Amino acid sequence: MNSTETVREELLARIQSSENPHEVMRSVELKQLAGELQSLPVEQRADAGRALNELKQALLAAINERETALADQSVEPIDVTAPWDANGKQPELLPTEFGTQHPLTVELERIVDIFTRMGFEAHESRQLDDDWNMFGALNFPEGHPARDGYDTFRTEEGLIPPAHTSTMQNRVLVEGKAQLEAGGQIAGISYGRCFRNEDIDATHEHTFYQVEGVFVSKDANLAQMLGVLRAFYQEYFGQQLNIKTQPAYFPFVEPGLEFMIEKPSVLGSKGGDWLEVLGCGMIHPNVLQAAGIDPTEYRGFAWGGGVERIVMLKYGIEDIRHFESGKLAFLRKFA
Ligand code: DAH
Repeated sequence: MNSTETVREELLARIQSSENPHEVMRSVELKQLAGELQSLPVEQRADAGRALNELKQALLAAINERETALADQSVEPIDVTAPWDANGKQPELLPTEFGTQHPLTVELERIVDIFTRMGFEAHESRQLDDDWNMFGALNFPEGHPARDGYDTFRTEEGLIPPAHTSTMQNRVLVEGKAQLEAGGQIAGISYGRCFRNEDIDATHEHTFYQVEGVFVSKDANLAQMLGVLRAFYQEYFGQQLNIKTQPAYFPFVEPGLEFMIEKPSVLGSKGGDWLEVLGCGMIHPNVLQAAGIDPTEYRGFAWGGGVERIVMLKYGIEDIRHFESGKLAFLRKFA
């Protein structure tokens, strides 16, 4: 047996037992064969070269097969057999496993339902938007440092997977303008996914949900806003709640506030634990103007906050990453 044949058998056997079969292409044996080629007399070189190439092709084919076999092993096999005795009588009702709604979908529907019962029209937010809706219409001047607070992703075309549902504010205001001028008011919520280029940990995700509200009328005021928000959280948690606010800066509201609820006693709190749940305030005149609404005639309030935080509080979920993990063990707890 010549040396190419010996090497072939040795390497094919190695491929069959290797977890990383491609390594064989970098083996000493192959390097040696290639080296020996140089020292052969010229008239033998062409044949030996052809034999080496054939060997390499054969090895690559074997590697391919082995890799497919390895990949198959790591996938859990699907049981395609009938889940009843196939030789007996077929049951009248076939056994079926039903999936369930994701806990965030269920909670989001609850939240939207509460606001629509309060008279707010619901708009689904978008998953891709432009700079104008995400920043410009919300009184973030170009190059303003407040933009940096949002860790936005951007597509190569400069579009933005929205970092907040406030990206819908201008659309809701523009759409409601006619109603306002006919003597009515604008009452809308937007809900949906938001995306931020965050460092991920137990309380931060790159993908999360927010709900946003806007209300505009001739005499909207902060007291009305606090009433709406308190009523919402009381309905959501099913009990009376204390609330408080503290000043905060957002370019699209003036004054701007952070809104807090006292952790509900039904969840085991003895009182005194405050939870910041959203940002809110009176809509900035520039934001009304950007939607063609005269800020000397109309006023509005707006708010926006995360969904996961209150769902986690309600169900005692400790890690926000569970929601997007796709783990069936987690999801089945909500079945
Ligand atoms: N968009 C803000 C955020 O994601 C939250 C927010 C603050 C929304 C104040 C509002 C508002 O509508 O008035 O951080």
